[in-house]
Amino acid sequence: MAYPDGTVALRDVSLKIDDGEFVFIVGASGAGKTTLTKLLLCEERVSSGILEVNSFHLEKMRSFRIPYLRRTMGVVFQDFRLFPNKTVYENVAFPMQVIGESGKRIRNTVTYFLDQVGLGDKAGSFPHQLSGGEQQRVAFVRAMVNNPKLIIADEPTGSIDNDLRDGLMDMLLQANRSGKKTVIVVTHDTDLLYRYRKRTIQLHKGRLVSDQIGFEGYAIPANGGENA
Ligand SMILES: Nc1ncnc2c1ncn2[C@@H]1O[C@H](COP(=O)(O)OP(=O)(O)O)[C@@H](O)[C@H]1O
Ligand SMILES: [Mg+2]
Repeated sequence: MAYPDGTVALRDVSLKIDDGEFVFIVGASGAGKTTLTKLLLCEERVSSGILEVNSFHLEKMRSFRIPYLRRTMGVVFQDFRLFPNKTVYENVAFPMQVIGESGKRIRNTVTYFLDQVGLGDKAGSFPHQLSGGEQQRVAFVRAMVNNPKLIIADEPTGSIDNDLRDGLMDMLLQANRSGKKTVIVVTHDTDLLYRYRKRTIQLHKGRLVSDQIGFEGYAIPANGGENA
C-alpha cells in the first residue's frame, strides 16, 4: 500500500484472520498499523495485491458498496469520537439511523445496550457530562449496535489510564467470547500483550515481521526489517 506521495506504508503483507479470532496488531510508530485499519475500513485502497474483508473484495470493490462493508464492522477509536452535541442515546442510535432501522428497533436496541454497560440512567446526558470510562462504554456500544462481525479498536491504550484500558479489554474479550465477534486490537502497549496471550501480528516499517500466539518482545531483525 503506497500513499499518493509515494510513501510505501505496507509491503508484502500477507495474512489471514479467521472469523471469531482475537488479534493484536503491534508495531512502533510508523509501522503501518493505522494504514492497515484504514484498508480494512476501505478508507484507503491497496495499491496492489488483494484484500478480502467479511466477503467483500476490497481491491476491486466499487465505492458505493463501502457503506455495506462498514455495516459489518464496528470501530472504537482511541479518542472515542463521540458526537459532542448528541446525547448518549443519540450517539448510540446514530449508526442504526444511518442504515435506516425502524424507530422501535432502535429504541429497543439502544436501551438494551446502555443497560448492559450500566448507562441506562445516562441516556439523556451529553458526552462532556460523562467520565472517561462512561464515554468509552458509549463508544463501545455504539460500535456494537449494528451487530458487526468484526470490531476494530485502534490504539485503545494510547492516552487513557489503566482502568480505562482494562475496561475496554474486558468488553472486547467478552464480545469475542460470548458474542463470537472477530476482534482486532491495534496497540503499542506491550503490557497488554504480555497479559493477554493472543495472536499477535507485528509490523515494522510496513512489513509483517512476526505472527504468533503471545508476545516475546519485539522481533525486529538487526537489519531493521528491510529484508524481513
Ligand atoms: N496520508 C499519508 N500520506 C503519506 N504517508 C502517510 C500517510 N499516512 C501515513 N503515512 C506514512 O505511512 C507509514 C505508516 O503510517 P501509519 O500507518 O500511520 O503507522 P502507525 O499507525 O503504525 O504509526 C508512515 O511512514 C507514515 O508516515
Ligand atoms: Mg497509528
